[in-house]
Amino acid sequence: MHSARYDYGQNGKHERINFLSNNEKVPPKQKKGIVVGVIVALLVLAAVAGVLIWLFVFKANSGTTLSSRRSPRTIVFSGHMKLADVPFDQKLEDISSKEFTDLASNLEDVIGECIKKDSFLAKYYNTSVVTAFSHGVIGFYWSKFDVPGSDLEMVPEFSEERMLDALETAVQGSRSIMSPRSLKISEVTAALTDPRMARNPRSVECFYVLEAEEGKIKTFASPGYPTGYTSKSRCQWQIRASEKNSILVDFPIFYIEDYCPDDFVYIYDSLSSDEYQAITQKCGQRPPSNPLAVASSGNFMLINFIIDSDVQRPGFEAQYTAIPLSNVTTCGGILMETEGVFTSPLYPRFYPPAVDCKWTIKVAPGSKVRVKFTMFRMKEPRVDIHVCHKDYVEVMGTKYCGEMTSLALTSNNNVLEVNFHSDKSYTDKGFSAEYSAYDPADPCPGKFACASGICIAKERKCDGWNDCGDMSDEIKCKCDKEQFPCDNGLCKPRMWVCDHVNDCGDGSDEKRCSCEENEWRCGNGVCLPQDVVCDNKQDCIDGSDEASCKSSPGICSEFSFICNNNECVNKVNAECDRVNDCSDNSDEAGCDCGTRPYKLNRIVGGQNAELGEWPWQVSLHFMTNGHVCGASIISDKWLLSASHCFVTNDPANHVASNWQTYSGMQAQYKQDGVQHRAVKTIISHPNYDHMTFDYDIALLELSDPLQFTNTIQPICLPSASHVFPAGTSCWVTGWGAQREGGQVSMMLQKASVKIINDTVCDMVTEGQVTSRMLCSGFLAGGVDACQGDSGGPLVCFEESGKWFQVGIVSWGEGCARRNKPGVYTRITKLRDWVQKETGI
Ligand SMILES: *[C@@H]1O[C@H](CO)[C@@H](O)[C@H](O)[C@H]1NC(C)=O
Ligand SMILES: *[C@@H]1O[C@H](CO)[C@@H](O)[C@H](O)[C@H]1NC(C)=O
Ligand SMILES: *[C@@H]1O[C@H](CO)[C@@H](O)[C@H](O)[C@H]1NC(C)=O
Repeated sequence: MHSARYDYGQNGKHERINFLSNNEKVPPKQKKGIVVGVIVALLVLAAVAGVLIWLFVFKANSGTTLSSRRSPRTIVFSGHMKLADVPFDQKLEDISSKEFTDLASNLEDVIGECIKKDSFLAKYYNTSVVTAFSHGVIGFYWSKFDVPGSDLEMVPEFSEERMLDALETAVQGSRSIMSPRSLKISEVTAALTDPRMARNPRSVECFYVLEAEEGKIKTFASPGYPTGYTSKSRCQWQIRASEKNSILVDFPIFYIEDYCPDDFVYIYDSLSSDEYQAITQKCGQRPPSNPLAVASSGNFMLINFIIDSDVQRPGFEAQYTAIPLSNVTTCGGILMETEGVFTSPLYPRFYPPAVDCKWTIKVAPGSKVRVKFTMFRMKEPRVDIHVCHKDYVEVMGTKYCGEMTSLALTSNNNVLEVNFHSDKSYTDKGFSAEYSAYDPADPCPGKFACASGICIAKERKCDGWNDCGDMSDEIKCKCDKEQFPCDNGLCKPRMWVCDHVNDCGDGSDEKRCSCEENEWRCGNGVCLPQDVVCDNKQDCIDGSDEASCKSSPGICSEFSFICNNNECVNKVNAECDRVNDCSDNSDEAGCDCGTRPYKLNRIVGGQNAELGEWPWQVSLHFMTNGHVCGASIISDKWLLSASHCFVTNDPANHVASNWQTYSGMQAQYKQDGVQHRAVKTIISHPNYDHMTFDYDIALLELSDPLQFTNTIQPICLPSASHVFPAGTSCWVTGWGAQREGGQVSMMLQKASVKIINDTVCDMVTEGQVTSRMLCSGFLAGGVDACQGDSGGPLVCFEESGKWFQVGIVSWGEGCARRNKPGVYTRITKLRDWVQKETGI
C-alpha cells in the first residue's frame, strides 16, 4: 500500500533509500494527528545490492554447512529514524542514561510492532536494538531476523523494500502500546547489513563511545594491538564530536589479514552500519606511504572491527580528532595563476562523503588550460566507470571515476571548470591535479603536443610507443626500416611482430605468423604437424610442444617439473601454484617467496617504486663508490646478482669485503627499515665469459641473515622447466647505474617490460644471445632514466599469486633505449647451478 516515488537525483541514479515526510500524500485510512505519507527514494541498485548481500550472507555461512543439514541464517537491517517531536537532550548521547534507555526501548517497541504487522517478517523476527541518538533527533537501529535452515529459500524475500514497507507504518503513526507516549517518525532508512556488525551497546564487550575534540588528537587501537588480535573479534567504536564538526580518523598502522570477507574494518558516516552511508571497507596491510585516513561529513562516525580468521595480525592503531565542518566542505574556488595544483578535499586523506566542489581555472585571454591528474582514485563498489553515477570529477561535460593512471585534459578557451562530486556513500583518495596555461599557437614549445594537450619529447613521436596515452603521437606516421607498418597506420618496433601479442591493436603484427590450421607453432615460429603435441617427445627447439601437456604421468622430459622424489609433473609452471602436484608436495615446498605484504595504490604515471613494492630488491655498494649494482634476495642468507659486477679488470671487485648490501631500500639516502649486511662470499659462475656475458650470474652469501619484514622479502626462483612465454609483461627495477653515463637515481625505479620472442631477440642483437640469455623490451615507464641495474631482477607475476624472477639484468644497448631490447641472464637455465651452490 505504500506509494513509491523514484527519485533519480541529479545524475539519473539513486543514492539511497529514504522515507521522507510528504504532506501531499495521505494514505486513505490514516488517522489524523500523526504524520503523513511517504516517498520512497529507491536506489536503482537496491535489488542488485540485496542479491549481492544475500549471496554474501549465504556464502559466508555456507562453509559450515553440512550437505545433509542446512544452517540457519541471520538477516540484519540497519538504518536510522528521525523522531519528529522529540527535543534533543545531551543525555541521549550517553547510553547509560535513563533518557537514552527510555527513548531507546520506546523506539524499539515501535519498530517491533511495525515488523509484527508484516506476517512474513514477524515469523522470523528476533529483536531490534537502538544503538545511538544524535541531534535531529535521529535514532540509529538494527533489526535482526533468524531464518531456520529449513526456510533458507525465503532468504531472498528479505528485501530492503519489504523492511521499509513495514517501517512505513511507523511513519504513519503506529503507537506503541507499551510506551508512555507515541513517537512521530518522519524518516526511515533500512539497509541489509552483515549481521556481524549488529552490536548492542548496552550488553556487549568491545564497544566504545569516543569523543573527538578540536585541537586534540586522541588514539584508540584494535584489541590485542600490537601483539595481535584474536579470532571472532567483534568491536565497534562510535565516535562523536560537537555539532558543526567533522571527525578525522587516521590509521598510522593498519595490518589486518588480507581476506576481506572474513576480516575487515568497516567505517560508516553514520552511527549504524548502513551500507548507504558507508565510507569504506578495508583489510590487508597498508604501508606508511599509503595510510588509511578518512573523514566524516557530520559529527559522528562508526568503526567496526570484524575478525573471523584464525590468522593473527597486529590490527590497527588509530588517531582521531575533530575539525570545523566548514574546513571539510569548503573546497573549489577560482584559480588564476599560470600554473598550480589543486586536489580533492582533504587530499591525500580520503575525501569526505557528500561534498561538491567547483574550481574555475581562468588564464589570460588567448591562452588555454591544461589539466593533468597526477593521482586519480575514486573507486566505489558496483559502479560502472563509464557512467560514474556516484562520485565523479566532471570536466567539460564528461564524468570521470574509478582509478586512472593517465588523465590529461585541455580546455577549448581560457576558462576551464572542474567539478567534484561525492555522494553519501563510499569515498576514496580522490585526486591531485596540476594545471597550467598554454599558448594554443605553440602548445608545447620544442616538444610534440598530444591531442590531450600534454607535451612529450619530439623523438617520441612515431616511435611505436603510445607516449601520449591517447595514441595521438603514433598516428599519421611513416615507419622507418626498424619498424613494422601496422594496417591501421601505426608503426611498431619490428621486435614485437609475431610475438603473440596484438601490439598494433588491429592484429596486423600477428597476422602473417601463424601456421596452417592442422599445425602447431613452436616458440621459434617453426610449424610442425599438430600430432607432435604431447607425444612425449620434444619436437620444437623450445619444447613448447610438450610444455603444456596435462597428463603424461611419470614421463620425464626437459619440461617436466621434477619433484624431490624424482616424480615428474607434466604441467606448465607447477611450482608454487597452490596445487599439490607431487605426491611428496615438494612442488609447493619453499614457496615462502614472491609476495609483497603491503597493499599498494597504483600511482599515476609513476616510475618511482613505492615502499615495499619490490621487497626483494637489493642495492650493492662498492667501496666508496656508493650504489653500483643491483641484486635480489633469494633467501635470508643469499642474494642473486650478475657476474659482471664482480669479475672485471679490477681484482678488487671480487673481494667480498669491498661490498655492502642494503635490503629494504627505496631511496638511496634513506636508511629507515633498511638492513645493511656485509658480504661473506662471492660465487661467480665459473663459465662466465666477460666478452660475451654468457653465464652472467653470481651468488652473494651474506655475513648475517636478513630479517624478513614488510619491505624485505625473498623472490621465488623458477624451476628449470618454468615457462615465461614471449609477450608476458614483467617488471625490471633498479636505481640505474654503471652504464649510459652512470647516473644513479635516488629513488628505486620500476619499468614495465615485455618478454621478447627468442628469434626476434637473436635478430635484433645480431646473434649475440646465447641460450642462457633472454630479451625484454620496455613497455612503459623508465623512459628517461637508465632503469635496469646490472645484477638487478626482472620479475614476472604468476596468476597463482607469486612473483618469480625470470632474469638478471645483464647487458643491452643502453638500459632504456626504446626499440632496443635489454638482455638478461635466463635463470631457468642456471637454476640447477644456484641449487648446487646454495641448496635453495
Ligand atoms: C533471539 O536470538 C537469541 C540468540 O540468537 C535467542 O537466544 C533468543 O531466544 C531469540 N529471541 C527471539 C524472540 O526469537
Ligand atoms: C580551518 O580553516 C581555517 C580557515 O581557512 C584555517 O585557518 C584553519 O587552520 C583550518 N583548520 C584546520 C584544522 O584545518
Ligand atoms: C618469433 O619471431 C619470428 C620472426 O619474426 C617468428 O617467425 C616466430 O614465429 C616468433 N615466435 C613466436 C613464439 O612468436
